[in-house]
Amino acid sequence: MDIYRIKGGKKLSGEVEISGAKNAALPIIVACMLADGESVLRNVPDLMDIRTIIKVLEFLGAEIDFNKEKKIVRIQVNKIKNGEVPYELVKTMRASVYVMGPLLARTGEAYVSLPGGCAIGERPVDIHLSGFEAMGAEITLEHGYIKATAAALKGTSIIMRKISVGATANLMMAAALAKGKTILENCALEPDIVDLGNFLIKMGAVISGLGTDRIEIEGVSKLNPVNYTIIPDRIEAGTFLIAGAITRGNITLKNVIPAHIKSLTETLGQIGFDIKEDKNSVHLGECRKLKGAMIRTLPFPGFPTDLQAPVMSLMTSIPGISVVIETIFENRFTHIPELRRMGADITIENNIAVINGGQKLSSAPVMMSDLRAGAALIIAALGAKGTTEIRRIYHSDRGYEKLSEKLSGLGADIVRVKGGNP
Ligand code: EPZ
Repeated sequence: MDIYRIKGGKKLSGEVEISGAKNAALPIIVACMLADGESVLRNVPDLMDIRTIIKVLEFLGAEIDFNKEKKIVRIQVNKIKNGEVPYELVKTMRASVYVMGPLLARTGEAYVSLPGGCAIGERPVDIHLSGFEAMGAEITLEHGYIKATAAALKGTSIIMRKISVGATANLMMAAALAKGKTILENCALEPDIVDLGNFLIKMGAVISGLGTDRIEIEGVSKLNPVNYTIIPDRIEAGTFLIAGAITRGNITLKNVIPAHIKSLTETLGQIGFDIKEDKNSVHLGECRKLKGAMIRTLPFPGFPTDLQAPVMSLMTSIPGISVVIETIFENRFTHIPELRRMGADITIENNIAVINGGQKLSSAPVMMSDLRAGAALIIAALGAKGTTEIRRIYHSDRGYEKLSEKLSGLGADIVRVKGGNP
């Protein structure tokens, strides 16, 4: 398996182009199943997760062409071949459960492996399933599979028991073709959900309330295939800003929406970094006197849980005490033991981590446990003394396009060693 070898201490500088948003592209690719014909999606990042969701749709009968250089995906849907979406595919990527909404809406049945948990938590899908039941679906669980059937989905009122990005996406897609009006309450406000909603509206869906916690969907009888451009990836953007910060560098992100990373840029400002925003770019500049900060992860527009691990790596380099409170997932501190191997002084108390920062970390062999924990280790290595080797880097391939090329372009000393860890 490949490893990263990163020599720390280089200040990052220059410009980096941010790719399309993985977590918007995934549901939007699935939403193409809601209409017969060819949809064309632009600014789609070339990521493992995108290739996985394409495999899932091809499994269900879609014909897909992915031009990786041009970042264009053409999705031709004619006959949906209803089938069992196998565990092998779903276990590699939970977002495969997104197919349930379109399958139920278009064919009246869905047979999808129950996604297992993952490194960051148990990650149930009960909110998705109870929403489908409220819309008239029959749900049974057998041999690790979800079997859902519905003669016809009916619009209804649903108050989700917890804010869930995935459930909001799945239920919005199902409601788009249901009979009557669906009111979803306690919705996620994430930009990825707004992007999915805008895509559905372009297909002919009747949706109001996007970007609020109450979304109304008036079901229609048919949707049409469309051309659409995916929004920039706010988590990739935040990851690069944090990488620039730990190296005390001077970088500009191109093709970003500053409002989508406001909670991070405000935190970086509080710590003492100079942040400048333009319409589609964000610049991180010289830092003033740096001091620790406290973050609590929350649904959008709060601090994103996907940037919690990366920002914790930065906090190890900031003099004084910083505090991280993780409120979304129950096991999202798996990066901490690896950071401690590099000399980080971090104390954990339940979902709270206290970071005593200011010392430069030192290189040590470390291992990624999931996508964003992996990003945290890369960031830590960029700021550390010596050369760090990182294993299981397939995790970061899931969510960061051309990561080592982009970091090298900013002056990082990073090498991807093929088969570096047999
Ligand atoms: C999405 O996951 C993202 N993935 C995650 O990004 C992100 O961390 C998460 O939202 C939170 O922002 C994609 O968009 C593909 P949730 P999702 O449903 O939809 C609980 C990354 O690194 N819950 O908002 O699975 C759940 O356990 C990934 O790109 C239920 O209890 O997250 C969690 O505690 C990691 N029952 C909380 O809600 C349900 O039916 C939020 O989960 C659904 C969720």
